[in-house]
Amino acid sequence: MRTDTGRIIHLADYRPTDFVLERVDLTFELDPEATKVEARLIFHRRDGVDPAAPLVLDGDELTLSGLLFDQMEMAPERYTATPDALVVRDLPETSPFELTITTIINPQANSQLMGLYRSSGIYCTQCEAEGFRRITYFPDRPDVLAPYTITIIADKAANPLLLSNGNYLGGGNFDEGRHFAAWFDPHPKPAYLFALVAGDLGVVEDKFTTMSGREVALKIYVEHGKESRAAYAMDALKRSMKWDEEVFGREYDLDIFMIVAVSDFNMGAMENKGLNVFNDKYVLADPETATDADYANIEAIIAHEYFHNWTGNRITCRDWFQLCLKEGLTVFRDHEFSADQRSRPVKRIAEVRHLRSEQFPEDAGPLAHPVRPDKYREINNFYTTTVYEKGSEVTRMIATILGRDRFKKGMDLYFERHDGEAATVEDFVRCFEDASGRDLGQFSLWYNQAGTPHVTVTADYDAAAKTLTLEIGQTVPPTPGQAHKKPMHIPLDLALVLEDGTIAVPASVDGAEMTGSVLHLKEARHTVTFTGIPSRPALSLNRSFSAPIVVRYDQKPADLALIARHETDLFSRWQAITDLALPALKDAALAARKGEAIQIDVTFADALLAVAADPALEPAFRAQALALPSEADIARELGGDNDPDAIHAGREAVLTAIARAGADAFRTLCDTMTAEGAYSPDAASAGRRALRNAALLYRTIAEDTPALAAEAFAKADNMTDLAQALTVLAHRFPEAPETHAALSAFEARFAENALVIDKWFQIQATIPGEGALARVMRLKENRHFNENNPNRVRSLVGAFVFSNPTGFNRADGAGYRFLAEEILRIDAKNPQLAARLLTSMRSWRQLEPGRAELARAALVRVEREVLSNDVRDIVDRTLKG
Ligand code: BES
Ligand code: ZN
Repeated sequence: MRTDTGRIIHLADYRPTDFVLERVDLTFELDPEATKVEARLIFHRRDGVDPAAPLVLDGDELTLSGLLFDQMEMAPERYTATPDALVVRDLPETSPFELTITTIINPQANSQLMGLYRSSGIYCTQCEAEGFRRITYFPDRPDVLAPYTITIIADKAANPLLLSNGNYLGGGNFDEGRHFAAWFDPHPKPAYLFALVAGDLGVVEDKFTTMSGREVALKIYVEHGKESRAAYAMDALKRSMKWDEEVFGREYDLDIFMIVAVSDFNMGAMENKGLNVFNDKYVLADPETATDADYANIEAIIAHEYFHNWTGNRITCRDWFQLCLKEGLTVFRDHEFSADQRSRPVKRIAEVRHLRSEQFPEDAGPLAHPVRPDKYREINNFYTTTVYEKGSEVTRMIATILGRDRFKKGMDLYFERHDGEAATVEDFVRCFEDASGRDLGQFSLWYNQAGTPHVTVTADYDAAAKTLTLEIGQTVPPTPGQAHKKPMHIPLDLALVLEDGTIAVPASVDGAEMTGSVLHLKEARHTVTFTGIPSRPALSLNRSFSAPIVVRYDQKPADLALIARHETDLFSRWQAITDLALPALKDAALAARKGEAIQIDVTFADALLAVAADPALEPAFRAQALALPSEADIARELGGDNDPDAIHAGREAVLTAIARAGADAFRTLCDTMTAEGAYSPDAASAGRRALRNAALLYRTIAEDTPALAAEAFAKADNMTDLAQALTVLAHRFPEAPETHAALSAFEARFAENALVIDKWFQIQATIPGEGALARVMRLKENRHFNENNPNRVRSLVGAFVFSNPTGFNRADGAGYRFLAEEILRIDAKNPQLAARLLTSMRSWRQLEPGRAELARAALVRVEREVLSNDVRDIVDRTLKG
């Protein structure tokens, strides 16, 4: 394990390498415990570099077993090898030279799942961000690009399949049952995009003809017997390839594109050039075992990794500070893809829900950092929702500010100007400035200033003058290391909704630039006046969530109801419904916190129920209207001194009030939103299921009986309905005989399918209340649990700490102590997984004092005993910030 060095890397210290890497030639002789890696690297000294400067290569837990210089044994006094570096001296001043480095590594013993490891008998690699240095000594940084030739030698019976990046060169048999395969990737790439896979797998094959008429072989490799479950992923891949040609003009650039599904993987998936490696959870699907959400995730992640071929691979990052350059941009691209494939407004609502529940708390807590950080101690901890989701929002704002056509021009320029390079955020932004003539200097603060901006609005309508005046102020809260912030360029899309439901078109706008319906806020305060407004309008702000901000505007319920009924922007309609429900949820939580009786005035629910029953709206949207803000959302709105039990109790009371007020509507929805014909994962069918399942939940709450869910469980012909019925049973009636029966039946039926058993773990780990911890500890002893598999750990421990607020935040602190134990044990095997689980503590300061102190004590224990750099980085910042 890479233990703590305390060393901090700074963006300001970036400088290019002293030596240029020209070519990479790797030979792997695979063996489970002693794989021999021979790396032949051709370098030359960069112009102007000190002729005495040594070559310093990165390593991580390596031992050197051979070193040649231009094919000759290297004299020992010319180099120094340690587990984490190889330093070579007395190298030529100008001429190219070749180093041949031999290392022996043990894939079987690699429990970190970084570098070369084994998963269910398959050899596979994960090199991003700094895993390649666990394979051989190398300049392991993203600005070192070279073409790679790879030769893999292995036992043929155990490893009929030998895969790497690029195009297949050829292969053949060796003696003693061994064979080899050679691959060449002509596109210069950094080491983090290297991949090797070897083993015995089944394959699904297809073809894609690119826009210039080249034929690309498509292959998805899965465990034998699971081939039929890869069909949806293959379909998603072909749609992604087509979409990237049509929308971004990007064509695929090798003869073959491969995806391999493995069952032990730290992340979701990885975009290695021509050879994506996926967590099998994001490849395998059939109606019996995958939910609608699983299908949507597969589609999005297949697209995401494919899209990296241009945004990440052809144009990569100069250094890891520029991570959002590939991740934020590629998330934006996969969001757009899903919006085009499914329903744009529903997709936008889901994105914003996710951003608010994950990124907003990160940005408001001790782990807050800019979209482009300027320092890090462990890069693995910066694959965050801020880099990804806020990074995507920043790209979206560029598109909003420039408009579609100029955004497209800027992207084209970026691809043209930086193809084959390792670029920076500045390079990216400059392309949009050059393509549009617009100055994005102030806008660039979005990359450098952490924290979610707060925009406060007051409105004053003058009936005599027919003018509307807005006072708009913005502040960006302080975040770790950034006490004072500058005003940002915020593109605020807005509409003035008149009483008859139409949108007013002002005669003039004064006080801020406006393009179309977008107001450009650039100062700490603006006074904006709209003239020619015939009557007092309702103000619809931040339409389509044009900026990732918190808007504070004291909106009248009648205005929200008007927006909920008439806005042409469906996102804003959904937002208005949510804003109508929020005061009730907050008041109920506060009453419960004080031990008072909870009183609920359900008039707010009228708009919600009207939307839910409106046949003119798509069912998926109606289902979103019915899904109230989560307990975490309410906690964030309350903003501190939080008691998760009170928030839960308050939310339950509101749910019950809605369930009773809408009883008839929910019954009708259950009866009418039924499936037509066989299961299909398409968005429209999924929307009907979502709406029916939402109605089923409300009916169950109103009638307070497990009978409806038990019946739904018995009748379900697909995993979406089955898992939802099981969730309602387990979460609402954990001790009912119907629940026990359903849980056992589910376990027995899917005992052989680990991905479905993960759902079974997850449903039980998120049963609210004090009893959850004992249940989770019991489930850890279940025969299906496996502490070495990240998916199992996430579905049990991860679901408990991230998605069970009442269970995890037990008042006696036992949940926190449990997490501390888990972190320390998991850290010894898989530090990345442990560090991620620990981020569940990021909002501990928002808890009421009793819980906060217990949480702090658990963090202090982790801080005292932790070994890895990954966990130490998270625990230190969580305690300090
Ligand atoms: N490049 C990442 C995978 C990765 C992340 C490797 C962190 C090493 C460290 C990949 O493109 C990615 O972003 N995957 C996401 C899913 C995606 C749809 C957002 C993941 O794995 O969660
Ligand atoms: Zn990515």
